[in-house]
Parts: sequence; C-alpha cells; structure tokens
Amino acid sequence: MVAVQTNDYKKIIAKPFAPNLGAEIHEVDLSKTISDEQFEEIHHAFLQYQVLFFKGQRVIPPEIHVEFGKRFGELHTHPAAPTMKGHPEVFEIHATKNSKIANGEFWHSDVSCDEEPPLGTMLQIHILPDCGGDTMFNNMYSAYEALSQPIKNMISDLTALHSSEHIYKGRYADRGQKDTDIDCPEAIHPIVRTHPETGKKGLFVNRTFTTRINELSEDESNILLELLFQQGEHINHQIRFRWSKNDMAFWDNRCCMHRAIWDYWPEERKGRRVTIKGDKPA
Ligand code: SIN
Repeated sequence: MVAVQTNDYKKIIAKPFAPNLGAEIHEVDLSKTISDEQFEEIHHAFLQYQVLFFKGQRVIPPEIHVEFGKRFGELHTHPAAPTMKGHPEVFEIHATKNSKIANGEFWHSDVSCDEEPPLGTMLQIHILPDCGGDTMFNNMYSAYEALSQPIKNMISDLTALHSSEHIYKGRYADRGQKDTDIDCPEAIHPIVRTHPETGKKGLFVNRTFTTRINELSEDESNILLELLFQQGEHINHQIRFRWSKNDMAFWDNRCCMHRAIWDYWPEERKGRRVTIKGDKPA
C-alpha cells in the first residue's frame, strides 16, 4: 500500500481511523462545491483508506451531493429501492418504529448483483438515534491477503453468481415500492477482484448477494463460500463507525464490505445516499 502520511495532504486533513481501514476527513465543507485541489486529495485518500468519514458537516443539499458524486463518475440508480422525490439518483435510508427491515443489515458490497457494481457510495446521516445505528466496514484487500497460499491458489480462477431476487422482492413494500416496478439483477464475477485503480487484489464475495461458486458442486460451493464469507467478516479486517449528525461516509465497494447495525428500534435513523457506477470486476 502507498504510505502517505496525514501531512502529505495540503487541502484536507486525513486522520487514520484505525490501522487496518478508514480515515476521518476534516476541513472540507461538502455543502458547497469543492475545489479541484480538494477533490484530487479526497480521491487519493479514498484509494488509500478505502472508506472516508467526513466530519463536521452541514446538511448537504441533494443537488450538491449529486454533483460531488458525479466528480467520481456517472451515478448509479438502485434497481429496487425508492428514490428521493425530484432526485432519482438519491436513495433515502430511513428506519422508523414502523419499519420491518432496515437497509444493509447483513455484510455486503452495494448491489454486487449488477453486471457493473457500484464503485462507491456516499451516505450522509441527518437523523440519528440517541445511541447505536453504527455502520461496520471491512477491508477486502487484507481479508484476501490473510488467506493461506493453497486457498489463494484454489480461488484464483473461480467465479461466483451474485443474485438479488431473495433480497429485493418485497423489501421496500412498506415504502410503497411494488415488486412489478423493480429489477432483480444477477451477475457472475471473479471471486478475487483486481481493483481497477490501485491494482491490488481483494476478495469479492458477500453473504447478501453471493449465492453460488460456478465451477464447484453445490455442497463444495456452500462450504467454500462459508469459509470466504467468514474470512471477509473476520474482526481483524473490520472497523465500526459511530456516526455524529451530518457525518458523510464514502466507501469503496470494490475493496470494502459494510453492514448497518439496526439496534435502535423504535428510534428513527435517516439519511441520503448517492452511489457511483463502477466497472465490470476483473
Ligand atoms: C447501506 O447503504 O447499506 C446502509 C448503510 C447504513 O445505513 O449505515
């Protein structure tokens, strides 16, 4: 990994969150258009730390949130989730006392069932419970690196099916989304993915969407997937982020998984998410 120290940045402050993953970003106001210099440093920090937590933020207007997302690429529209009125690229995260489920409760990389899964996701949380509602993230580079060489050899050419019908059917019914209005994509991706910008290898399977290793029998696939899921979810590769009001998290779906903890029912948690299109995993 490129060893860049905090003081190598001139236009932002990047403070490592934990030795294995993440950085807090200070001295950036995302409620306004940022300069090209700040953007370059944020992009660099994103590749270096994999998940960034922008602290001390005001509410980011949806159009500025969308504009910031577009600096990283074309935006992704979720195949099933309801979007914000007037802002089709904004996905509202919302759990209340009436919710039957909360978003992202199991380890996943966003919409990995797409042919071209999202590059990254930017989530700002505006309403938080008194305590709880944390989000966990993990480092899929280090999860891959920590595998033994015989397992690395075994998985090097294997591919897996990522499906979504079991996740998306009926999921957003309580928010007015009919099953006839949604897509349930599925796609085949390599189990070991090379990050298109850093060139580093990471594991690319997750318990939410990955259902089958194509080249193995069903029993073999189940056993090996369980091993790889547990490797990805291992405590050594993860962090747990405690949100403050208006924090914005920006994670790289190509080399991280995340999991939202719904431990605050019946309290409310609400935010807005913009997701950037990615490329076909290689
Ligand atoms: C998600 O986008 O998976 C939800 C993350 C969160 O609510 O913290």
